[in-house]
Amino acid sequence: PRHLISAADLTRDDAVLILDTAEEMARVADRPIKKLPTLRGRTVVNLFFEDSTRTRISFEAAAKRLSADVINFSAKGSSVSKGESLKDTALTLEAMGADAVVIRHGASGAPYRLATSGWIDSAVVNAGDGTHEHPTQALLDAFTMRRRLVGPDAGLGRDLEGRRITIVGDILHSRVARSNVHLLHTLGAHVTLVAPPTLVPVGVEQWPCDVSYRLDDVLPKSDAVMMLRVQRERMNAAYFPTEREYSRRYGLDGERMARMPEHAIVMHPGPMVRGMEITAEVADSDRCTAVEQVANGVSTRMAVLYLLLGGSETALPSAAARTE
Ligand code: CP
Repeated sequence: PRHLISAADLTRDDAVLILDTAEEMARVADRPIKKLPTLRGRTVVNLFFEDSTRTRISFEAAAKRLSADVINFSAKGSSVSKGESLKDTALTLEAMGADAVVIRHGASGAPYRLATSGWIDSAVVNAGDGTHEHPTQALLDAFTMRRRLVGPDAGLGRDLEGRRITIVGDILHSRVARSNVHLLHTLGAHVTLVAPPTLVPVGVEQWPCDVSYRLDDVLPKSDAVMMLRVQRERMNAAYFPTEREYSRRYGLDGERMARMPEHAIVMHPGPMVRGMEITAEVADSDRCTAVEQVANGVSTRMAVLYLLLGGSETALPSAAARTE
């Protein structure tokens, strides 16, 4: 495929190819010189209409490690604030010779529109659109689970088969949850969503997962527990849970973490709100992979850019190893 818009579009083979390529890319990070020549002369544009720390920085790091040129565009401080449309912004980027556009937008469907509009020829990567999807987050999460729960050299492809993943919190507004449900299902894992009834989306019964309202019942049966932030910015006060009540019922503290199996990990895509969905004790524990997920995000995004932009085979670390 030319674009990455949705984790739901990925076949098992697609997902496994990306995860296996990410393993190869991770080896580059262990070298003294963390760079490959594979996308030299190509241009990657980061087009961010919503705030981001991890996704924007890691796409920039990923593109630079593949030797691509990077243009960072943030809607804040741009002519978007003067009323310029997505189409005119896209045409401007096209005129600058973008080979890939990584887009984050508050409107669900904006990356799909960009990819199918005919305005631009570039590959389009969804870096989070409204409450719809965040496919590279799900890929880096699957990569992290594979490494922590199975190991990097496990039989690839079927290795998350039967793993039990619990996703906790504001499912209603979470593009991370949607992408993870689709990808983990494709990889054979079993997903349970846990949330207050007001933060479960309508139609969730169509999703390939279970839903529970009782975190304490699900924790002992989980291999990974992914905590989500309550997205106040996408809510109105009518269904805004109080911090104390939310933390008491759905927050993860040390006592609750002790109910998880010994091998189980705690995940968080970030940004974390310590004291709300996760205590500092859990966030800082060895079982929490939040920082590791960020590092894995660079390797995973390198793999996505490499595969979409058709980087040179011989510039892959494994190819270099074969010719050494
Ligand atoms: N996980 C994630 O998407 O973080 P940012 O919003 O900081 O990019």
